[in-house]
Amino acid sequence: MTQAAKSITLYSNFFRHREASVVLDYGAGKLRNALYLAGRGFAVYAADLPEQVSRFRSCPAINLLAGVLEVGDLPASRLNVDLVLSTYVFNIITEVAERQRYLDNIVANLRPGGYLLIELRCRRAHGECGNGCPDYFKSQECAKTYSHEELDRILIPCGFRRLSHYYRHQALAAIYQLAGYSRYQHELIFRP
Ligand SMILES: C[S@@+](CC[C@H](N)C(=O)[O-])C[C@H]1O[C@@H](n2cnc3c(N)ncnc32)[C@H](O)[C@@H]1O
Repeated sequence: MTQAAKSITLYSNFFRHREASVVLDYGAGKLRNALYLAGRGFAVYAADLPEQVSRFRSCPAINLLAGVLEVGDLPASRLNVDLVLSTYVFNIITEVAERQRYLDNIVANLRPGGYLLIELRCRRAHGECGNGCPDYFKSQECAKTYSHEELDRILIPCGFRRLSHYYRHQALAAIYQLAGYSRYQHELIFRP
């Protein structure tokens, strides 16, 4: 089993303290993150494209998961999870409409006040990303990378606010929180 993404290992205690225990790993790949968190007591749903789901259905460890879904199930699944994981997925979706579907499915399955942990390749206007990164602003590959400001421009209109982020090597990881609703005024609120 390959190691879980760095952001997952760094932030899993943060999510435990926030009682974010039900998780959707969206674009779960070879299940490295899903199984890491399932092994630490989180209830994890894994979702991916149909061809990838049929691959991980044959993995015996799948019994440790709360469930497995194909992306086509997500618009109606309403999982109401506490946390969505998205590691190295958003940056490989090249079609605008597909990226929008991906975001819509996150919002549809996350509870109000829930968290999105997103890790992907980074793009920084200044700073360490330029060192040793052969794609830095030069190739098509580079166009599939993001800075935290670019993520903000995409995610804030979907109802998220950024709580935290860091850059490490050529990766950017960020935690966002979806707005919740005040019981009394039906207004958007963010809990600390
Ligand atoms: C680079 S892998 C990352 C897998 C995993 N998140 C990880 O960090 O190990 C990208 C994954 O995204 C999935 N994927 C690609 N397009 C997707 C989409 N539109 N919706 C959901 N998953 C997608 C792929 O099938 C693949 O499993």
